[in-house]
Amino acid sequence: MENINNSDTSSNKKIILSGIQSTGELNIGHYFGAIKNWVKLQDDYINYLFVADMHAITVRQDPAALRRRSLEVAATYIACGINPEICTLFIQSHVPAHTQLAWVMNCYAMFGELSRMTQFKEKSEQHSDNINAGLFTYPALQAADILLYNANLVPVGLDQKQHLELARDIAVRFNSVYGDVFTIPEPYISKEKSAKINSLQEPIKKMSKSDSNINASVLLLDKTDDIIKKFRRAVTDSETEVRFAEGKDGINNLMTIYSCATGRAYDEIEREFSGKGYGDFKLAVGEAVVSVLEPIQKKFNGLMSDRAGLEKILKDGAEKAAHRANKTLAKVYKKIGFLQI
Ligand code: TYM
Repeated sequence: MENINNSDTSSNKKIILSGIQSTGELNIGHYFGAIKNWVKLQDDYINYLFVADMHAITVRQDPAALRRRSLEVAATYIACGINPEICTLFIQSHVPAHTQLAWVMNCYAMFGELSRMTQFKEKSEQHSDNINAGLFTYPALQAADILLYNANLVPVGLDQKQHLELARDIAVRFNSVYGDVFTIPEPYISKEKSAKINSLQEPIKKMSKSDSNINASVLLLDKTDDIIKKFRRAVTDSETEVRFAEGKDGINNLMTIYSCATGRAYDEIEREFSGKGYGDFKLAVGEAVVSVLEPIQKKFNGLMSDRAGLEKILKDGAEKAAHRANKTLAKVYKKIGFLQI
């Protein structure tokens, strides 16, 4: 039975939860595919937004770099427009309930289900020397992240759809045994193409933190000149016409990015660039992205120069998150039969 009427006790607002791994530098895919939607939705929901540092260690991380990136990802949320006064921001490893519930989730996620996860298959190929158990059970921890807060809505990019479906399946399976414990979460994935921003070099592949080709991704903290250069080098096709069409993956991706940055529809973009070449179009896309990123970068630098302020936000956030998470965990422990004394 779906408990979709869940709301916070102090208001009628529903609950959003989402997160990003602190594995590498964030790119415009993370912004247009996920963070921008969080910003858009934040006033109408109770928001739990976290940095998934525990998911990050499923691939090897340099400890100092992981520490720095976790703080940077949190600062990026705020720089992109997340308001820490209305959103609970925290670091996953600061709330032990995530791993505590993850163990329970491991016992309700099936081997076959986890084996079918495309992210597991891809990462196993990328890191064939380190196919650890954490990489395999990663979606069980993600289910715990979501179900601990009884999230109604999980705004993510398209690549996370399969993980969300598994979280829903686990919740339904658990509820069918123990009653109405978990809210069944709904994914929130943009209908627009922003749900998947592709690589500038291989435009059928997702723009990804783990891509080793620096020209493939535009990072949120890239310098203006580098952004313009990366767009200039973007792979297109042998035609000259800016139009959204099958087989024009490079141009389609650039049109998507331009549309995300300017709010213009594809037909408007086609009109704007009719009779102009790809060179003009690429420059315009680069400039539009620069104008989105410049204020974000300015704010980011200000936030990073006040480390104490940032840490305070994350400390308060972890406390608030733990309060809610521990309630769900206690309920689960009771339901499954762990001795209470
Ligand atoms: P991660 O860290 O890979 O990506 C974070 C968010 O950004 C979206 N995204 C993209 N959207 C459009 N185009 C792209 N090129 C692109 N690249 C990334 C992702 O879909 C995601 O929304 N497993 C998650 C992190 C996570 C999580 C959670 C998310 C852990 N627990 C609970 C939601 C709820 C991940 O690896 O995302």
